[in-house]
Amino acid sequence: MVFITTAGKVGTEATRLLAERDIPVRVLVRSPEKASTLAAVGAEVVIGDLDDRATIDAAMDGVTRVILVTAPVVAQELNVIESAVRAGVEHVVKITSKASVDSPILRRRWQTEIEEALSASGLPHTLLRNNAYMQNFLMLAPAIAKTGSFSSSAGTGQVGFIDARDVAAVATAIAASPTRHVGKTYLPTGPELLSYGDVAGTLSNVLHRSITFSARTVEEDKQAMMSVGVPEPIAAQNASAFALIAAGDAAWITDDVSAILGHPARRFEQFANDYADAFG
Ligand SMILES: NC(=O)c1ccc[n+]([C@@H]2O[C@H](COP(=O)([O-])OP(=O)(O)OC[C@H]3O[C@@H](n4cnc5c(N)ncnc54)[C@H](OP(=O)(O)O)[C@@H]3O)[C@@H](O)[C@H]2O)c1
Repeated sequence: MVFITTAGKVGTEATRLLAERDIPVRVLVRSPEKASTLAAVGAEVVIGDLDDRATIDAAMDGVTRVILVTAPVVAQELNVIESAVRAGVEHVVKITSKASVDSPILRRRWQTEIEEALSASGLPHTLLRNNAYMQNFLMLAPAIAKTGSFSSSAGTGQVGFIDARDVAAVATAIAASPTRHVGKTYLPTGPELLSYGDVAGTLSNVLHRSITFSARTVEEDKQAMMSVGVPEPIAAQNASAFALIAAGDAAWITDDVSAILGHPARRFEQFANDYADAFG
């Protein structure tokens, strides 16, 4: 039994992929609506909360492998790790990002804390240190649909954007057959480096209308996110991430996805086609 800790972008697709392969899968969700959608694809669903250790222990019953994915919230992931140790789990795939102890971005320092706890737990595990998800553009989709434009302080910085569906595919491939991946850290990315201007160009081609990108300052980024309800600490971290992108921090690609899956990662053009409706 594979246990997936959340049903967000990665968890939902990973659940679907495992169920499709008839691999027993259990997923934890907070809402009954998500529960019924995931049950319909063949997953066992536990309604609970990662802040509640009792629900995690109940969800961990009979589990041999875990796909650990959260916002990331340190206490929640430590709850899962401790529960997995108690249950004698054989392997954990940990979804992470460019974690480092001295990162200016708080959530990346948190990821380091979680990775260190996982390592100290003695659980056999594999880290997926992913580049930025293409699906992040879905947050901008309503504004792009309305205005035909988007902005950020990423400037001309390039990113090896990865489709979150490929992150899920890599995580499920490893969870299905973990032996050769134990102790490894992978750096999953898409197949190409793209600037935000390149993304605007691809969206224009796919949507058959002009989509433009314009640069703005880090502070303008933060204020824009807060104006649509993003809490200040998250907006500050996101804005810092854009500033790092401008400086080249995300300009890396690897062939880890194709090495693990045996086929290339999705290009941004495919993502844009698949989600064209969201962009209006
Ligand atoms: N986005 C990127 O560009 C990027 C890049 C590299 C790495 N990552 C990593 O990817 C991970 C995030 O994965 P994701 O994008 O799949 O996440 P996501 O789409 O943001 O989904 C998070 C899920 O967590 C659930 N959740 C939140 N609090 C919970 C709680 N207390 N109990 C149970 N469930 C809870 C949410 O449920 P509700 O639906 O109920 O809210 C949601 O389904 C992070 O580790 C991040 O560092 C992201």
